[in-house]
Amino acid sequence: MIIALNHKSNLNKEEYEKYIEDFSTIKTNHKMILCPSFVHLNNKTPNHVILGSQNVGLFDNGAHTGEISAQQLKSYHVEYTIVGHSERRKEEKESLKDIHQKMQQLFQNNIIPILCVGETKKEREAGKVEEVLEKEIITATENLTSEEREKLIIAYEPIWSIGTGLIPSNKEIIKTIRFIKHLLPNTKVLYGGSVTEENIDIIKSISIIDGYLLGGLSLKIEQLKILLEKLN
Ligand code: PGA
Repeated sequence: MIIALNHKSNLNKEEYEKYIEDFSTIKTNHKMILCPSFVHLNNKTPNHVILGSQNVGLFDNGAHTGEISAQQLKSYHVEYTIVGHSERRKEEKESLKDIHQKMQQLFQNNIIPILCVGETKKEREAGKVEEVLEKEIITATENLTSEEREKLIIAYEPIWSIGTGLIPSNKEIIKTIRFIKHLLPNTKVLYGGSVTEENIDIIKSISIIDGYLLGGLSLKIEQLKILLEKLN
């Protein structure tokens, strides 16, 4: 399975160094993609870890103050990048057009996007889950080749589930992931949103999930170890 770890804006220098030390004790065959803050990209990562980032700039190298380009990420051995996380869509007003442009930047630099999609509580209650996801996916993947579509990873993260402790029922998750796989037949789909070492007992029975995107849990090594063991 693919386990992507989204640290968000967490861990100062010393905390990150300690985290990596503790992380080195994890033994797993799952594909672990670690997405720390940009400031930690140059630190050592354990051998079994693939490096990811949480965002990418819209443009090539050049006069774009405060931005980090896909070319720069590539030079730091970043292999995957989270794109369109709901926190960025909301807080940074990231538009569908921006997300499409970031996808292009990443593929041009041989970095695989982990595209986050998901509905709000209101959209779910209005029965608009598929409509919302279809728009997010179709606009972001426009002009991608079939090879790129197969490399791409989608992370289905219901916005109302992120960091809230609430998760959809297995039936709801299955329905939505089936819909995503109908739009993108050969693309891997992760589930993200309040996944813990406890509720994984319930979610792991969903066989069409290709992995998980973990936020809060990614920072807790002991709980992460329990989750990984349960997925074996
Ligand atoms: P969470 O975050 O696991 O803390 O809900 C997931 C995410 O935002 O990617």
